[in-house]
Amino acid sequence: MFSAKIYAQRRNQLRQEVNSGLILFPGNEDVSFNYPANTYTFRQDSSFLYFFGLDHPGLAAVLDLDNGQDWIFGNDIDIDDIIWMGKQPTIKESSLLAGVNNSASIKDLAEIIQKARKDGRKIHYLPPYRGETMLWLEDLLGIPHLQLRSNASENLIRGVIKLRMVKDDLEIKEIIRMVDVAYLMHVTGIKMAKPGILEREIAGVVEGIALSHAGPVSFPVILSINGQTLHNHYHGNVLTEGRMLVIDAGCESDLHYASDITRTVPVGGKFSQRQKEIYEVVLNANLAATKAVKPGIPFKNVHLLAATEITKGLKQLGLVKGDVGEAVNLGVHTLFFPHGLGHPLGLDVHDLEGMGENFVGYDDEIKRSKEFGLAYLRFGRRLQKNFIMTIEPGIYFIPELIDIWKNEKKFSAFLNYDKIEQYKDFGGIRIEDDVLVTETGFQVLGKPIPKTVVEIEFTMKQD
Ligand code: GLY
Repeated sequence: MFSAKIYAQRRNQLRQEVNSGLILFPGNEDVSFNYPANTYTFRQDSSFLYFFGLDHPGLAAVLDLDNGQDWIFGNDIDIDDIIWMGKQPTIKESSLLAGVNNSASIKDLAEIIQKARKDGRKIHYLPPYRGETMLWLEDLLGIPHLQLRSNASENLIRGVIKLRMVKDDLEIKEIIRMVDVAYLMHVTGIKMAKPGILEREIAGVVEGIALSHAGPVSFPVILSINGQTLHNHYHGNVLTEGRMLVIDAGCESDLHYASDITRTVPVGGKFSQRQKEIYEVVLNANLAATKAVKPGIPFKNVHLLAATEITKGLKQLGLVKGDVGEAVNLGVHTLFFPHGLGHPLGLDVHDLEGMGENFVGYDDEIKRSKEFGLAYLRFGRRLQKNFIMTIEPGIYFIPELIDIWKNEKKFSAFLNYDKIEQYKDFGGIRIEDDVLVTETGFQVLGKPIPKTVVEIEFTMKQD
């Protein structure tokens, strides 16, 4: 945990953002996997971690905005639990670690909420995302579970986003540590990318490094020779010469700050001419977009810059034709680059996404597009100092999408379908880094992970 003072400061800042009433923070519960007592690895709610730091199930918290009191609620465990789990801190002891002086049982929470409802006080809560939390809130607040997300407090959502988006030095350090673990995960995975090995042999080692150095992986490992499928979690293919292997993986610290890195390498260690050409287009887009990062620039513009680099590069290779600016305006590049450039990173790997992407990534000035491709951009608004974003452009040859567009003759003035046909067996390439917005520009976080053609080929030659 950070010091109690930090959590108290964060809560005081939140009080300034949300005027009156109560703020209710339900912590996460253990969730059953295949029978009641066999649970998934416990993961605390990220906002609960941000404001209280307490990382165990069975907790809830309340900030009373009208009398300035903070409360932690939970039940102390008895000897039956101690036999299985060992001695645990009391709720009182845990509360003090978070700088909260008031603690009580879960039953007391129900009474406090009942009274607040009777008195007509506003009860602010964040949009719940787990079934268990929804059922509990339904009982506590009397709001049907299907209406809980739409009844969440917009003031609280906006306040939490404002605070959590801007990372302090301790948070930045945590994320850098996790990028450094991702360095080990990726360099190990890259070196293993030899013909004949199964994807899952590499995925298991990559995930094991996360577990042995830090928390678990920050999202299920994406590792595939079929990188044209953006989130490919199937790990059953045998690596074969001629394919590119996409490894998209990161991990969580014990405080649950995340890293998220992607590298793509040629199976066997040597890029073919065709692989190298496409790879360098993606690399140029990654570098140009990263260089453009600075406070004040709309992230949507950084995304479009990457799209422009990709379109320019593909035009040089003869896959795209016509005016590059016009092509990007029309969305021609989305045949190859159908996703957004990146997302915020923090306590969640897609930081704050549970609050609603439009609250996090868009505002009155920059609204989300409805166009194919651009609509998937999770974050479009202006960057601020100490935001951390992923920069992850890619080029993918998705045979099913190519067929649909070709049959429709979509953008045929800009797309050389005869040439594109020849790439249907290519797969995909994505290159992703975690980037801090600094006072004047950007910092790519962590120990540099091999990224150029020369660096990757050199790394793949090492044992
Ligand atoms: N790196 C996985 C994702 O951003 O969804």
